Amino acid sequence: MRKLSLILIGLGAVIIVGILLITHINTEKISGTTTNQAVATTQSNNKRSDGKSIVIYMTHTGNTEAVAKAIQKQVGADIYHLQTKEKYPTSYQKMLKVARSEQNRNAQPQLAGKLPNLKGYQYIFLGYPIWLDKNPMAINTFLNHYPSFKGKTILPFTTSGSSGLGSSLTELKQHAKQANFRSGLGITDDKLSDTTQLVKSWLAKNQF
Ligand SMILES: Cc1cc2nc3c(=O)[nH]c(=O)nc-3n(C[C@H](O)[C@H](O)[C@H](O)COP(=O)(O)O)c2cc1C
Repeated sequence: MRKLSLILIGLGAVIIVGILLITHINTEKISGTTTNQAVATTQSNNKRSDGKSIVIYMTHTGNTEAVAKAIQKQVGADIYHLQTKEKYPTSYQKMLKVARSEQNRNAQPQLAGKLPNLKGYQYIFLGYPIWLDKNPMAINTFLNHYPSFKGKTILPFTTSGSSGLGSSLTELKQHAKQANFRSGLGITDDKLSDTTQLVKSWLAKNQF
């Protein structure tokens, strides 16, 4: 009788260990699948299958940020907010003076924080406000940070009172010589309420 109960206890223990093992293996499988699904979701949101996209933007009063977020949403891209170490003045007149001085000195304002690693990205949406017909000088600092843009595609987008892209494209091309450039999107402040639609048709033109 005692022998029988010992056998039964032993059997029970084996069954319990077995159940625990199976549960453990399944949990591992589920978490593995979850991780892969998260990656797959990002990739399938990314409208192009030939490479990942990132939206990198600078903004002073928020207009370019709104466009950046619309692009991010429609493309399913990652997003990075470029910021200078020195904060810019909020007053328009003071900002005008700072921007003029930076352009005249060909300044390279320092950027705050760690810049993104662009290694895994094929498409870089680069956004900024137009200042005195050009890109903010900090955009040049950003481009100069990377040794090469070989094989990468830059899609510039801007917001401005009326200048569109201004002369910023010439400047960008000088600082990212090996990049491929797509025609940019320039949204003027009076058209900001049409951002979603403007972004949509620009993306479609660029096969996104
Ligand atoms: C210093 C400075 C210079 C500007 N220069 C121009 C310009 O040359 N042409 C233009 O159309 N708008 C110009 N603007 C207007 C901004 O480009 C426009 O309001 C833009 O939408 C601001 O974007 P943000 O909110 O992302 O900073 C200038 C604004 C500032 C602050």
